[in-house]
Amino acid sequence: MAVPQASWTILATLRWTADYFRTKGVSEARASAEILLAHTLGVSRLDLYLRYDQPLNPEELARFKALMVRRREGEPVAYLTGHREFWSLDIRVTPAVLIPRPETETLVAAALEAAESVGAGLKLAPALEQHPKTQNLKPKTSPLWGVEVGVGSGAVVIALAKELDRMAWVGLDRSGAALAVARDNARRHGVAHRVHFLQADLLAGLKPFAAFALLVANLPYVPRAEWERLPREIKTFEPPGALLGGEDGLDLIRPLIRQAQQYVKGGGWVLLEVGDQQAPQVAALVEETGAYDRIETIKDFSGMERVVRARRLDGTG
Ligand SMILES: C[S@@+](CC[C@H](N)C(=O)[O-])C[C@H]1O[C@@H](n2cnc3c(N)ncnc32)[C@H](O)[C@@H]1O
Repeated sequence: MAVPQASWTILATLRWTADYFRTKGVSEARASAEILLAHTLGVSRLDLYLRYDQPLNPEELARFKALMVRRREGEPVAYLTGHREFWSLDIRVTPAVLIPRPETETLVAAALEAAESVGAGLKLAPALEQHPKTQNLKPKTSPLWGVEVGVGSGAVVIALAKELDRMAWVGLDRSGAALAVARDNARRHGVAHRVHFLQADLLAGLKPFAAFALLVANLPYVPRAEWERLPREIKTFEPPGALLGGEDGLDLIRPLIRQAQQYVKGGGWVLLEVGDQQAPQVAALVEETGAYDRIETIKDFSGMERVVRARRLDGTG
């Protein structure tokens, strides 16, 4: 192949690579070329266009070509760069964790809304926050607790910990390798002191003491038949244990719904991310427990019912 030469400029390299990716059936060809070239040069995507006539030196070109070949073979861009943006946070990712998806921001937004009704409140307004007397407004009692089941990279629990600065969190995952990535991300975002990560099968590692104000989970929910149809990019590179949910996709969500009511306090909320067409079935499973007085489904930006949210009956927790 007529690969980019040392004399090639940023613009020429981008054009060539985007065309090459297109002919090889690489998804998001232009964006992939831009992100990988920006990563190689240690600049932003915008910077590429501000320096479009700058030639690449041989060392930059060699590093870029190596990434280009891996991308051609289907490796996700986020694994190649080691980063993905989620909720405007830079999240480190490795092949041990699912790459956080934009639609999962719906789960974060729905949890923030629910948090207001349990008194977690959002951050104090900036003007108040800067006023020395606002120290007195901070609760003197122990903080409200939340739990995320299946943290993966930690994207969700870290976004929530950053937004809800009065809450402390437990982050659970079955995968030790994922927990290592999540711990690192929590440290990088300055919330490690408020998120306690534990290795556990669903909630099995915790005593059922009905203490949590929020329980959020984006567990694997891809049904077996759908798994076969997923793009190679996902099937080959992302951890199956983060995606596969058994025959109907609900192998993990079903037992979590059975356990959750023992962990969430009255007036607290359970929030579950679900896959295409699963919301009615999951809402019915939640209803069957008789433990919740408000059950809602929330749509994502594409109009799909993405989150099932339920409020624990008061006075029973
Ligand atoms: C779909 S990923 C979600 C990761 C992250 N919360 C996100 O939204 O990007 C599901 C996560 O659940 C974890 N998981 C799967 N089965 C589990 C189980 N039985 N108990 C705890 N975690 C589990 C996987 O290891 C994976 O990290």
